[in-house]
Amino acid sequence: MLWSLVVWLASAALILGVLTQRWWDPWLARSGIDWRAIPWRWYLSGYPATVVRMRWRWKQVCLINDLSISRKPTRAVVGDLAVKGTALRPIAPSLGLPRLTKTGLVVRVRLNPGQTPQPFIAAAEALEHAWRVHRVRISSPRRGELIVTVTAGDSLRGKGTEIHQAPERLLAARVGRIEDGGAWVLDLRKVPHWLVVGATQSGKSTFLAAWVRRLATQPVALVGIDCKGGMELGLFESRLSALACSRLEAVGLLDALVTELQQRMAVCRAARKRSVWELPEDERPVPIVVLVDELAELYLSDGSRQSRDEVAQCSTLLLRIAQLGAALAIHLVIAGQRVGSELGPGVTALRAQLGGRVAHRVNDSNTAEMALGDLSPDAIAVSQSINEDEKGVAVTTVGARWMRARSDLTTTDQARAVADENAHRTPNLPALARAVMAGGKQI
Ligand SMILES: Nc1ncnc2c1ncn2[C@@H]1O[C@H](COP(=O)(O)OP(=O)(O)O)[C@@H](O)[C@H]1O
Ligand SMILES: [Mg+2]
Repeated sequence: MLWSLVVWLASAALILGVLTQRWWDPWLARSGIDWRAIPWRWYLSGYPATVVRMRWRWKQVCLINDLSISRKPTRAVVGDLAVKGTALRPIAPSLGLPRLTKTGLVVRVRLNPGQTPQPFIAAAEALEHAWRVHRVRISSPRRGELIVTVTAGDSLRGKGTEIHQAPERLLAARVGRIEDGGAWVLDLRKVPHWLVVGATQSGKSTFLAAWVRRLATQPVALVGIDCKGGMELGLFESRLSALACSRLEAVGLLDALVTELQQRMAVCRAARKRSVWELPEDERPVPIVVLVDELAELYLSDGSRQSRDEVAQCSTLLLRIAQLGAALAIHLVIAGQRVGSELGPGVTALRAQLGGRVAHRVNDSNTAEMALGDLSPDAIAVSQSINEDEKGVAVTTVGARWMRARSDLTTTDQARAVADENAHRTPNLPALARAVMAGGKQI
C-alpha cells in the first residue's frame, strides 16, 4: 500500500517535472546549475548497487586476499601434535559508510591492530573486480586508517564532453579531462617546458591542437615548428606569430628566439629583476609558446655536412631556450615519437630541461622509460597499458605523481575556426617572421 503510494507520487512528480521544464530550465541555467551534467545514473542506481556489493563481498574479499586477522592463534596443540590452521572466525577491518562523489565514492577503512596499508594497496585490483568498479585507489593519510577512493567508470572513455568553466589564468589551459572526471589543466607558469611522446597516431598532434586552441584566446604569442610540411600546426597559421615548416626555417626561427631571449635578459638586468614576471605589467614582454611537432625531424641528418650543421644548431638553440626561457616567458612544448640518444647527444640534455611530461601510447618500454622514468618510475607500466583504441589517452606527471588523462578532440574545422576567430590577438613579432623567411630563402 505504502509502496504503491510512493511509486505513484514519484511518477506524478516526474511527469510534472517534464511538463514544467520550460520554466525551471532557464531558472536553473541562470543559477549556474547544469542539471544535464549531473551523473543521475550513478546517483540513482550505480551508487546504491555498488554500496550493497561492497558490503556483501567485503568479508570474503578480505579473507581471500589475507586482509583479515584472527584474534586466536592459528597454531594449537592437539594431544601431542602442534597443528597450524586457518582461524574459523577471521575479522575483517571495519568498512565505513561510503560517501557519494560525482565520479564514485570514498570510504574509510579502520585497520585492525597489526595491519599495515601495504597488503590493501596490493589488493586494489581484486577490490576493483569484486566491486565491479573502474578503479580503486588506496591511501593512508592517518595511521591506522585507509581512505579508499573508488572511481565508478572510466571517464576517459567515449567521445567525452568538454568541461566548460570560468576563464583561465594567463598561460594556464584546460586541455582535456583527467581520470576522475576533473579538468586537465596545464600551467606553463608552474611547469615552463613540456615533452610529449607517443607512437604515430597516438594523439600527440591532437593534444597540441587542444592546447593551442585554449592558448589562442589568451594574450600569448604562439610560434610553431612543424617540419612535416606544416600540416598540423599550419591549421593555426592565422593565430601563429611565426611558423617554420623546414629545418632551415626552424634554425632561423630558433636563432631569432635566442636573440629575443637575450633582449629580455637585458631588460630584466636593467630593471634589476630576476624574471619578466617581476616587471610591471605594461613593461612585460608578451609570453611566447614555441610548439614543435615531431622533434626527430629537427635532429635526424642525412649525413651531408649542411644537414649536420643544421642539426647541431637546432640542438644548441633549443637547449639554450630551455635553459633560460622559464624566467623570460619563452616556453617550449615539444612532441616526438622517440626522444632517445639515437637523435644525438644534445637530446638527453634537452629532455632533462623539459620538466612536464605527457606520454601517449608508446610502442616500446624504452620510450616510456625515457619519457617518464626519470620523474616517475611507476608511470611507465601505466603508459604501456594504453591500448590502440584509447587514442588521446596519456599518462602525465605532476611532480613525482602521475595520472591518466585524455585531451579534448579538436577537429580540423574547429582548429581553423579558433585560429581565425582569434587572429586579431596574434602579437606582431616581425623579427621572428623575418627570420623564418630568411631561413626559407636559403634552401
Ligand atoms: N583525445 C582524443 N579523442 C579522440 N580521438 C583522438 C584523440 N586524440 C587523437 N585522436 C584520434 O587519433 C588520431 C591520430 O591522432 P594524432 O594526434 O594525429 O596522432 P599523432 O600526432 O600522435 O600521430 C586522430 O585522427 C584522432 O581521430
Ligand atoms: Mg602528429
